[in-house]
Amino acid sequence: MERGVTPTPRKRRGRRCLVLGVLGVLLLVVIVAVVLGLTLTRKAHALKTTFIERCEEFKGYDCEQVWGAFQQAYVGLDPCKIPHEAYDPLIAAAPLKPACNRMMFWSKTKEVVHDFTEKSDCFLTVEETLLGSVLDGLTWCGKEGSDETFTTDCPGWTDCENNAVRSFWNRVSAAFADGACGDVSAMLNGSIATPFHPASVFASNEVKRFHFPRVKSLKVVLVTQKNFVTNCTNASLKDLQKELDPNITYECKEVAEAQIQACSSNPDKPCGTCW
Ligand SMILES: *[C@@H]1O[C@H](CO)[C@@H](O)[C@H](O)[C@H]1NC(C)=O
Ligand SMILES: *[C@@H]1O[C@H](CO)[C@@H](O)[C@H](O)[C@H]1NC(C)=O
Ligand SMILES: *[C@@H]1O[C@H](CO)[C@@H](O)[C@H](O)[C@H]1NC(C)=O
Ligand SMILES: *[C@@H]1O[C@H](CO)[C@@H](O)[C@H](O)[C@H]1NC(C)=O
Repeated sequence: MERGVTPTPRKRRGRRCLVLGVLGVLLLVVIVAVVLGLTLTRKAHALKTTFIERCEEFKGYDCEQVWGAFQQAYVGLDPCKIPHEAYDPLIAAAPLKPACNRMMFWSKTKEVVHDFTEKSDCFLTVEETLLGSVLDGLTWCGKEGSDETFTTDCPGWTDCENNAVRSFWNRVSAAFADGACGDVSAMLNGSIATPFHPASVFASNEVKRFHFPRVKSLKVVLVTQKNFVTNCTNASLKDLQKELDPNITYECKEVAEAQIQACSSNPDKPCGTCW
């Protein structure tokens, strides 16, 4: 305002409007930033809460310590540059207990396999071990120069090879497969052209860890639906057989999804009688 000049009421009102407008915009920016910040913090907090709650269902573990070992793998790091080994301290903090003759691997059959394993208690998938269960279905990553955990804007499964989530699943699957013993089962998908796909975690990371005489046999349950496209004679399954230690007995059986679902809803059936 120029000295000695009294603004007319209209000018004054105009300026007041401008000032109020600018303040309003600033306030809005601050509110949006705070809400966004709170939401992101709350989501990251929800990840820890979920992790700890699920962990506490397993007896005899220091879940805060397991959480600490988990964070150590990715916090402060480029989320696309997390090697599998980054999770070694986590595996050491909650070693996977082998469950001979009950271990179930899977590829592209996640829903049907878990519906079955959760209800029947006959088989154990990696998602039912402590480490698999605390992180099942979750997304996380870190950022360079930050000590926080993020759950949004993280690279997806195929965005980069060594992303925080994918490296975890590769590492924990390897640990699960390293412990494989006795008669091992795998549920593969008969509705896709290549049930044993070289890029799958099962093919690239798990099968090569089955060693005789610890592992005696591998039984593939090829889940078929109406109009299924592949059967046990498929070439990819022949590749699987070739990759196996020749002393491990291999068997493949086509089993209708409906039959597996029927077994799931009849959990008192003795183990191993569904196929
Ligand atoms: C097999 O894969 C197809 C295609 O992704 C999917 O629709 C189907 O549900 C899968 N089958 C089983 C038994 O999971
Ligand atoms: C398996 O599928 C092939 C075609 O991919 C077919 O020729 C063969 O008869 C099938 N075998 C059985 C046992 O269904
Ligand atoms: C069987 O597996 C091969 C790959 O090993 C694949 O290219 C082929 O399409 C599959 N066959 C059928 C009938 O789906
Ligand atoms: C695997 O089987 C072959 C014969 O098929 C046998 O000579 C060999 O000793 C076996 N390996 C082990 C580790 O038992």
